[in-house]
Amino acid sequence: MSIRVGMIGAGGIGRYHLERLTADERVEVVAVCDVNHAAAEEAAGRIGAVSYASWRDLLAKEKLDALFICVPPFAHEEIEEQAAAKEIHLFVEKPTGLDLETVARKQAVIRQAGIMTSTGYCLRYLDTVQQAKEYLADKKIAMVRGHYLTKFVETGWWRQMAKSGGQLVEQATHTLDTMRYLAGDIGQVYAQMQLLVSRDLPGTDIPDVSSVALSFRSGAVGHLDACFIQPDHRTGVEVLGKNFRVAIDGRHLTIVDEQGSRTIESGIDMYLEQDRAFITAILTGDRSLILSPYESASKTLEVTLAANQSARLGTPVAVHH
Ligand SMILES: NC(=O)c1ccc[n+]([C@@H]2O[C@H](COP(=O)([O-])OP(=O)(O)OC[C@H]3O[C@@H](n4cnc5c(N)ncnc54)[C@H](O)[C@@H]3O)[C@@H](O)[C@H]2O)c1
Repeated sequence: MSIRVGMIGAGGIGRYHLERLTADERVEVVAVCDVNHAAAEEAAGRIGAVSYASWRDLLAKEKLDALFICVPPFAHEEIEEQAAAKEIHLFVEKPTGLDLETVARKQAVIRQAGIMTSTGYCLRYLDTVQQAKEYLADKKIAMVRGHYLTKFVETGWWRQMAKSGGQLVEQATHTLDTMRYLAGDIGQVYAQMQLLVSRDLPGTDIPDVSSVALSFRSGAVGHLDACFIQPDHRTGVEVLGKNFRVAIDGRHLTIVDEQGSRTIESGIDMYLEQDRAFITAILTGDRSLILSPYESASKTLEVTLAANQSARLGTPVAVHH
């Protein structure tokens, strides 16, 4: 049996998933949609799929088992609700949205439909992150540090708060999600954000530097820094406890403890692992293969939105999930 997949959004990440899905012999990508119809036609043409300019038309005309939603954060409209009503399993790129009410409404419809969901928090599928999680399983975590220090993203919508939610919600969310994955839920955030040295970039209203203090429910303290003012790209998470630390630096994992220091490098394609896990989960019914379902992604979104609010208010903000 092959899984019939539809793709909405044939931009950067949509094309990434299409490459991996078409290499999976268990999958048939039957339709690709993009409001930029030329982009949909081009992507669909390469793989023998049908192209659409409207996701409503795609859902009305195609019989799908699974749908990949790879549109920007502001463009989710009612795609999840309409697809869930047809019992189509959903892969939703991060972030799941820009406000909690909308995402909670989508989540309720998804739960009601009983479909499977996966989201784009691909770092969870890295073998290095899995090894870090295993190592930390029986340890008391005291401090968690993260950073996402990179260049400006040229895409038009990314620089607009109303469309992307800003760097933390849209991009550094990967780091925050890894911090949550390794160290557990977060109860409070206190953030500073400024648009300081990028005012010359036309139409930009998102902060170019963000610094967030995090209180984990376990009692651990944490911190995440993000900026897009650098000439290069650095991301990482460090988890510290008494006489040990686990550091994820790009594709490397280093563990330092009383036994010494050891470093490994990930050799896997995390997007491939993520997409294959979702397809296997659909085929077998085993939801445990999906490392970031919709509810978990919503928790990460809640933390990043709380940080935006904290920066606006100048006070700590509680996270309620
Ligand atoms: N998991 C990851 O590593 C990763 C990497 C990049 C992007 N993303 C996420 O994927 C999403 C898309 O990012 P991108 O870089 O591919 O953006 P992009 O701008 O390159 O592509 C988005 C595409 O969606 C199309 N689109 C917009 N509204 C639509 C609609 N209503 N119906 C159909 N198509 C529509 C656009 O025309 C565009 O082609 C974002 O939420 C981003 O955060 C995730």
